[in-house]
Amino acid sequence: MFDTMTVTKVGGALCGALLVFLLVKWAGDTIYSTEAGHGDHAGAAYVIEVEAAETEAHDTETVSIATLLASADIGKGEKTFGKCKACHKIESGVNATGPSLFGIVGRNVGTAAGFGYSAGMTEHGGTWTPENLDQFLTNPKSFVPGTKMSFAGLKKIEDRADLIAYLQSVAN
Ligand code: HEC
Repeated sequence: MFDTMTVTKVGGALCGALLVFLLVKWAGDTIYSTEAGHGDHAGAAYVIEVEAAETEAHDTETVSIATLLASADIGKGEKTFGKCKACHKIESGVNATGPSLFGIVGRNVGTAAGFGYSAGMTEHGGTWTPENLDQFLTNPKSFVPGTKMSFAGLKKIEDRADLIAYLQSVAN
């Protein structure tokens, strides 16, 4: 039944199958190692991104309010002033829950005529420079301990810069 020819054919078929198997395995290994290469590459790119993000965050922290004021958006600042309007009027000499903020940039701390300040504000001294306003508006209670201004603070330095630019624009 099994003549030489059949044995040769079967042997050939087995050899062929083995060859195909080896080829597939080789191809698989090649593709796998290529993917692994991509994986390593992606990992490296990710690390670089993280480092770049950290550098940027560091830059944002160290940028000064004076630098940001130079390119601040007064229109956006006027919108942000909406958060102050519940307590402050921008009109000259008009006090409400808080003192009038007309001409506040450059005004001495706690000196709006006819407003009853807290002791913390009256005793603070100094002038409302952009730098002082920036710190006060970041966290009112830490810059002026004992202030009666109930405002949590503006967390973004860009928002504070735009607002200070707006306040600066409403003055004599
Ligand atoms: C909930 C009411 C309230 C809100 C909101 C509020 N303030 Fe005030 N603000 C006050 C009060 C009250 C005082 C007086 C604080 C004191 O005497 O300790 C004050 C004081 C100030 C002072 C000091 C003024 C001076 O004459 O020395 C500045 C500057 C100021 N606020 C800016 C702002 C800005 C800008 C915003 C909006 C981001 C704001 N405030 C939001 C109530 C408020």
